[in-house]
Amino acid sequence: MTRSLDRSNKHFKRAEKQLPLGVSSNWRAWGPEKTLYVERAKGARIWDIDDNEYIDYRLGYGPAILGHCDDRVDAAAREGMKLGGTFALSTVREAVVAERIKKMVPSADLVRFTNSGTEAVMASLRLARAFSGRDGHIMVEGGFHGHFDSALWEIAPDEDPEGGLRPAGAGVPKVLRDLVNIVPLNDANRLEEVLKQRGDSIGAFVIEPILGNAGSITAEEQYLKDARELCDRFDIIMLLDEVKTGFRVARGGVQELMNVRADLCTFAKAMGNGYPISALAGREDIMRRIGGDNGIAQGGTYAAHSVPLAAVEKTLEILDETDTLEQIADYGRRLQQGISGILSGRGIAHVFTGHPSMAGLFFTESVPRNYREWATTDYALYNRLAAELIELGILCEPDSREPWFVSAAHDDACLAETLEKFETALSTVLDRKGVSAANV
Ligand SMILES: Cc1ncc(COP(=O)(O)O)c(C=O)c1O
Repeated sequence: MTRSLDRSNKHFKRAEKQLPLGVSSNWRAWGPEKTLYVERAKGARIWDIDDNEYIDYRLGYGPAILGHCDDRVDAAAREGMKLGGTFALSTVREAVVAERIKKMVPSADLVRFTNSGTEAVMASLRLARAFSGRDGHIMVEGGFHGHFDSALWEIAPDEDPEGGLRPAGAGVPKVLRDLVNIVPLNDANRLEEVLKQRGDSIGAFVIEPILGNAGSITAEEQYLKDARELCDRFDIIMLLDEVKTGFRVARGGVQELMNVRADLCTFAKAMGNGYPISALAGREDIMRRIGGDNGIAQGGTYAAHSVPLAAVEKTLEILDETDTLEQIADYGRRLQQGISGILSGRGIAHVFTGHPSMAGLFFTESVPRNYREWATTDYALYNRLAAELIELGILCEPDSREPWFVSAAHDDACLAETLEKFETALSTVLDRKGVSAANV
């Protein structure tokens, strides 16, 4: 049985006349025949406009942590709308929600609300520059911190094994190149080398300790400890980008999970269960450089809009006060066990990375320690498998660099269906003529 995408394909033709690539975000463009248009969603499931049903392991790249259209959060958002939205004035709830964030994330002395992950990281980086008096920053290979010029730099280990730094797309000013440094994950010596060479021009070390944009390849605890010490020694601000990990991998995010304390940190995705909102937070002395004399410009028309803010209040209340995160992790572990059983039954070497609530799946013998090692895994097999899974209604990311996200709405029925379809998809991929599963 194959899916029909007649309506989506037809709509694509209409949409591409109005929207570049037929979509509103480049990463949603899967081409004329595969781009999906969503009709509705509930819990862990999504339906496209052809009425194909999917179990969703993308969750919009993580946000829908309680499941799509969670009744409790939606009711709170409706209450939020009664306030009126946005006023170029503040509401009481901002400080109330900031108190919750501070309770969950001990490094969050002060909080500012923004609208997207990009905005939160962009403001944090500006803040780090203002506080340190240094304009350069270090990022980690395979990390993604949003679509603003200072962050849109990458290496492409699959295309360029030498790992040359390049802008991620056109239009990024080349003059910024000098401000950007990039290091591999889990190599504290390399980080130290860069700091020794260029430390006096570097204000921030920006890292996603679980690389949510590189298959959840994960920092080792010792590396994070070393990185923390190096940041202190060289007086660099450690900016933990928890846009994906925040309020997901633990109540206190990666900082709790891995016992590390950020100077600044950023949150988005899970905090509002899909409502558009984000935050930056951190050390009081740094955060106090926002505004005032000699402070940074930070703000925005829609910052702390009353609808998403009310959604955050409810979402965080649930995540903080119930065992939801433990349930999500438990589902993730059972999913991995099931998938592992199927793959091992076929003799296919594989590993999982990250956290059970946002895990990467790699076809390889040993756990990749950095982004370059991703390129040595059989990601072509992953890509074929993912395409087949989507065909069968298991909506994982077609690209192996995006983890599988789990929500509180994934239940036993989802698990059974996912595993059954995983088995079928794998058989199809392996049986298909011309396929060389390198590690089978
Ligand atoms: C770690 C990280 N930081 C920042 C961003 C940018 O967030 P947004 O897409 O909300 O601008 C993303 C997006 O996926 C992300 O994963």
